[in-house]
Amino acid sequence: MPLTETSIDNPLRKGLRITRTPAPCTMVIFGGTGDLTHRKLMPALYNLALAHLLPAEFSMFGFARSEFDEQDYRNDMRETVDKFSRTGPVEPAVWDTFAQGLFFQAGSFDDPAAYQALKERLLQIEAERGTGGNRVFYLATPPEFYGLIVDQLGAAGLSESDGWTRIIIEKPFGRDLDSAVALNQQVFKVFDEDEVYRIDHYLGKETVQNILVFRFANGLFEPLWNRDTVDHVQITVGETVGVETRGGYYETSGALRDLVANHMLQVMALIAMEPPVSFDAASIRDEKVKVLHAIRPIAAEEVNEHTVRGQYGPGIIAGKPVPGYRHEPKVAHDSTTETYVAMRLMLDTCRGQGVPFYLRTGKRLPKRATEIAIQFKAPPKVLFHRHTPAEPNVLAMNIQPDEGISLRFTAKVPGMTNQIRPVSMDFRYGTAFGVEDPPEAYERLLLDCMLGDGTLFTRKDETEAAWTLMTPILDGWAETPPPPFPNYQSGTWGPTAADQFIARDGRTWRRL
Ligand code: BG6
Repeated sequence: MPLTETSIDNPLRKGLRITRTPAPCTMVIFGGTGDLTHRKLMPALYNLALAHLLPAEFSMFGFARSEFDEQDYRNDMRETVDKFSRTGPVEPAVWDTFAQGLFFQAGSFDDPAAYQALKERLLQIEAERGTGGNRVFYLATPPEFYGLIVDQLGAAGLSESDGWTRIIIEKPFGRDLDSAVALNQQVFKVFDEDEVYRIDHYLGKETVQNILVFRFANGLFEPLWNRDTVDHVQITVGETVGVETRGGYYETSGALRDLVANHMLQVMALIAMEPPVSFDAASIRDEKVKVLHAIRPIAAEEVNEHTVRGQYGPGIIAGKPVPGYRHEPKVAHDSTTETYVAMRLMLDTCRGQGVPFYLRTGKRLPKRATEIAIQFKAPPKVLFHRHTPAEPNVLAMNIQPDEGISLRFTAKVPGMTNQIRPVSMDFRYGTAFGVEDPPEAYERLLLDCMLGDGTLFTRKDETEAAWTLMTPILDGWAETPPPPFPNYQSGTWGPTAADQFIARDGRTWRRL
């Protein structure tokens, strides 16, 4: 993997200026006219080009059913970058060079002739642009096409070339354990595990990557990271958005499959894992998978004891009325799909046994906030409890949007009395590093895949371990009637049952 360090004038900036440029390659995006390509993939590729992180030969094919003239496709992609790129409208000179490498191939996902046509054009472009046969296939289609596309790639011989071939598979990877196992088996008929990049974009977020740095590059916190000092952990992914235009997909998914089974379990694994023996892909993923295996399974008949589900009704978000989930486009009027989940997971590891992890996520909550909070045990009630009791210390990692870390502790209020109150020590990424606009997760992940670094992607055993945990919960929910939905108003923090649930353990959800 080419890794070069540019000249560094300011030693404090050391490490911020590592340039990683992949070998020339072509990326074929299946679903090249879809929402993900428009909102995330194309802006990410353009921003990599803007940052000089893409080789000049880089080429991309959009593959989709719609008929597009190549120039129209380039224009469409330019518009989408103008609209969604974090760096604002395109810089014409950068775009013009980048767009020379953009191509479009129309075809139906089940049509062998379309793959043959793709192959011929790929070979031609590879020769013209000098990409050496290095290929990344990106499955950005609805998940029901994943298996089919992989089969067709194999049948057309597209997975064989003079260079390397890799495949990126978007989430959801399966919808339960059986389908995830079946998809893995299907993929392995064509690609080897080290060619498969299962994407979980949370792992590409700077703040998520920082979890391991925070834990293992500091001597201070790791000794406290255990059952003797930690009372419990709360992981919250709050969203103000509803399902927007994705009602059709969401009806087949729900919050558990959409967010808990992947993003939230990955975050939990990073918080709970043991130090890896090295910082390479295999060692980190080995430790994460151990955590997933050590989470105590929730049997189908126990779901009501350990989980709460919710669905949003109408309400007010940011001062504006919004409809309930059942009135969103492409959603059934009697839908029982959950848009909110709260659950308690227990870990059976030496470090973590007895420390509950409370996970909650919901759409149409009052605030967009992703946070991991480690709440430490309260101090002994000996010295300060009589007046204002000391609150437990909390270490909160703000994943987004106010990226940072804060430590809550108790201080004496200045004055003649012994009054005490909690205060915060805050670290903010923007202020500390002068980076208000860090790269988006997809930028990092696309680049890593092109570099052949799978550290921030999920391995076969991780996806299957996650589904092993989640499938009985889904089964249990299918067997028990859901609570009367909708059971929370848009713009509130979820169903009251979720408050009662955590209160039964003598705890409360954090106010965000
Ligand atoms: C996606 C889910 O994976 O993550 C969406 O499908 C969700 O439903 C999104 O809104 C959240 O991502 P982010 O990066 O905005 O927190």
